[in-house]
Amino acid sequence: MNILLVHGPNLHLLGRRQPEIYGHQTLDGINQHLTKVAERQNVNLKIFQFNDEGQIVSVIGEHIDWADGILINAAAYTHTSVAIRDALTTVNLPTIELHLSNVHSRESFRHHSYIAPIAMGTIAGFGAFSYDLALTAMIQHLSPAPSVDSTGSPESNI
Ligand code: DQA
Repeated sequence: MNILLVHGPNLHLLGRRQPEIYGHQTLDGINQHLTKVAERQNVNLKIFQFNDEGQIVSVIGEHIDWADGILINAAAYTHTSVAIRDALTTVNLPTIELHLSNVHSRESFRHHSYIAPIAMGTIAGFGAFSYDLALTAMIQHLSPAPSVDSTGSPESNI
């Protein structure tokens, strides 16, 4: 299972950027933790952070044949970028949008997302744990469904 995680602009300064909103964890710390979680579950996780919109568009397209699913915190581009939405639509892979902060309890310009309508779902407001939730949701989504016996109950593994 191959999962692509893309962080958008200004997230490289996590830990120093408005910690009262985004928390104290650094991006490196978050990435190292997620890498361990993925390894434990035999998932290949590739992680990128870009400040430039075009680089985000490019990395999404470059992974069209590699990724089984995409996790994206497009940061401010969430609210502005038709190009990133089009890139995600083009690769047509299951996508989860995520945010550290609860964008809906913040300024009104953060309430609109170009990505949300084409994503499987959105996770927002749990700080760095939003990434754990998104990774778990994607692994669950991409995992084969448990086989079902004739009674309709999932078969026991015993
Ligand atoms: C963010 C929320 C965005 O509105 C903001 O522009 C960000 C970070 C978040 O993770 O909470 O840069 O995506």
